[in-house]
Amino acid sequence: MENRINGHATFKSPVDWEPGEDTRAILRHTKVEYATVDLADEALQVVLDWKTEGDTFSRKLSGLRHAFRVYSEQLVRTFAIEEHDGMAEVLEEHPQYASRVEGLLQEHDVIRDALDVIAMRLERCLPTDMATFEDAQDDIRTVMVQVRRHMHRECNLIMDAFNTDLGCGD
Ligand SMILES: [Fe+2]
Repeated sequence: MENRINGHATFKSPVDWEPGEDTRAILRHTKVEYATVDLADEALQVVLDWKTEGDTFSRKLSGLRHAFRVYSEQLVRTFAIEEHDGMAEVLEEHPQYASRVEGLLQEHDVIRDALDVIAMRLERCLPTDMATFEDAQDDIRTVMVQVRRHMHRECNLIMDAFNTDLGCGD
């Protein structure tokens, strides 16, 4: 339903707006993707918290490479789905949120670049080079915080636009 002022259509208010079947399907899909990112985040955190002993950390390095690859692939997939469906739907239905969408989409590029740099560092890291390994882990923790904040803002945007809760936490 559109609001009208002096006979001119204005932006649709999320309160009055009713989602169609396509939108409901996109929102259900988005909710599943976010839950999967949360699981990948949790798995990566478990590996990061692994305390190693001795001069070599080859087992943790191997586990971290795997957990980080899963996390990155899930994130990149979720970002692509958001760009194709979720954020596109927000723009189509509620163009008044364009600047918030634009900010989030720009952050996708920043995060994707950070993931690429970390992947390269992990790949090159020798299982005896503790300094490089620690730096890579710090970079992973930093990008994880950035991603959590990003997804929180995105959840809030979707909640504002579609008046729905995706269960993304506080
Ligand atoms: Fe996003």
